[in-house]
Amino acid sequence: MEVGTVVWVKGLKLRFRLRRGARVSRGQLLKVRVSDVRLVLRVVDFEPVVLLSPSEVARLSKRVEEGREVVVLDRDVRLYDTAVGVVVVEVGEDGVPRGPSCAPPLFSAVETLDEDDLRDLNLDGGDLRIGYLRVGHAATDAVVSLRGDRVIPHHVLVSGVTGSGKSNFGKVLAYAVMSVEEPRYSLVLFDCESEYFLGGSLGSLGLAHLPQAEERLFYVSSSVDEASRVRVTFEFNGATVARSILAHPLEVDVRRLHPLDFIMTGEFSAPQEELLWLAWRTFGDDWLPTLLDMPSSALYSRLRKMVHRNTINTVKRKLRHMLGDGHIFKEGCETDLLRAAVSAVARGKVVLFDIPHASEGEEKLLSVAVARRIFRAYERLKKRAPEEWERLPYVLIAVEEAHRYLSKDALTQHGEVRENIFSVISKRGRKYKVGAMYITQMPGDLMEPVIRQALTKVILPLPTRPDYLKVIQYSPYLEDAEDEIKTLDRGEALIVSPASGLRFAVPVKIFLFEDLARAELARELRLRASARAGARRRVRDEVWAV
Ligand SMILES: Nc1ncnc2c1ncn2[C@@H]1O[C@H](COP(=O)(O)OP(=O)(O)O)[C@@H](O)[C@H]1O
Ligand SMILES: [Mg+2]
Repeated sequence: MEVGTVVWVKGLKLRFRLRRGARVSRGQLLKVRVSDVRLVLRVVDFEPVVLLSPSEVARLSKRVEEGREVVVLDRDVRLYDTAVGVVVVEVGEDGVPRGPSCAPPLFSAVETLDEDDLRDLNLDGGDLRIGYLRVGHAATDAVVSLRGDRVIPHHVLVSGVTGSGKSNFGKVLAYAVMSVEEPRYSLVLFDCESEYFLGGSLGSLGLAHLPQAEERLFYVSSSVDEASRVRVTFEFNGATVARSILAHPLEVDVRRLHPLDFIMTGEFSAPQEELLWLAWRTFGDDWLPTLLDMPSSALYSRLRKMVHRNTINTVKRKLRHMLGDGHIFKEGCETDLLRAAVSAVARGKVVLFDIPHASEGEEKLLSVAVARRIFRAYERLKKRAPEEWERLPYVLIAVEEAHRYLSKDALTQHGEVRENIFSVISKRGRKYKVGAMYITQMPGDLMEPVIRQALTKVILPLPTRPDYLKVIQYSPYLEDAEDEIKTLDRGEALIVSPASGLRFAVPVKIFLFEDLARAELARELRLRASARAGARRRVRDEVWAV
């Protein structure tokens, strides 16, 4: 459908006059045909053209005020609406999208995209489906997907204010990962709000409701006493559905913790790190309980006065802060959660740590210990048995409140760089198929290389200027997207993912997880009903055959 006519062009920018009655929204994708090529543009702004004199404007507005009729002579040539667009991609005769190489001539027609155009844009070339292409605030039927094998090792940044749909995106991605037939990918989630497993609030759904959960979910929770399967039963459309899900208690034996689990949080200074290593060498497996329980003065002499008393006291305090009240980090557990989590990752599971009662320190230590072991396992296997490493799934580790780990403040101490496991993964994970998903409402606080290295960006509503400017500054395709980012509603995103072959910032309406889960459940019940009908038929046939 034609919506306008090009009236001005400069470089890749153009302005087109809007047809009367045509509706076009900011961010919408449109096209201009130039011989065999289709130029796809996105609308970035609107500007009315007013060729009236100031006195005419004054006179006419006064008439409006008085409720009288307004007649503008030659209205169509003196007063009309235009929209500004930027050419984002060019689709050649062969149907392949490329960077734009030409500008449209003046007076070309601007049209909406049709199904062929959408197909050629190749928005659904990946295996992780995340939402629909959006026109303004409305979703279309065109699905947008990401390519897991390219997206995961190059990291993902998910940014948006509270309530913008970050957790929903996490669930949608988990569903996508669980829906890939082969266990090609794994995903690690730390859920501080307890909203992933059963859904946080009344009426919402969680990963446990999905039929795929039986095979592909690994649930870690303090509601579980032993490594086993938990049974989840619920009602859907009047039918009872039961799931049996692999589960593990949320407990880590402090004797299994290594100095690096603490050091890689990035919270310890060089002398404090030295103390951790020294204690480890001196006390062996008991290093941590000894550091915690032995009085400072006794430690000071046992460690042959090689460390400062102050350092001992500070380290004790930091360790206690991270180890929390003992409901996660305990002495004498029979299970080995860290090993079980790595093994689940290697089998392509979504590993969900349900940690609503964890303190900030506990959450940090747990996520670092888990991430560190995954990274180490992948790194080692690649070096020692590359063929086996080849078969490992790509793993994506989600980091909530990523600014806590990856801000300038978190990564420097007294002017020195202080790495943590997530900054290491951000730099080196790619080589080993280990990626991170940084989730944050404050991307403005993140270090620039982290934003730049996250090749896939999911930008949900982000109203604060320093935050969206930082994302825009370090991402391709977002130069003119400022106004659009400001007007996003919850669940609406701009997706930048050159790693998935998307050649421009794609406006997306992220699926609502509950819609996906309900569709999945309805399909399951239909299959169940037809299987039952089939069984009844077989019994009847057998009876007659006798
Ligand atoms: N894609 C979406 N479509 C429709 N509603 C959504 C979408 N994403 C989120 N919402 C709604 O917004 C609310 C907040 O989403 P949530 O994912 O919890 O935000 P965040 O994690 O960013 O705080 C949810 O209750 C959900 O109902
Ligand atoms: Mg959330």
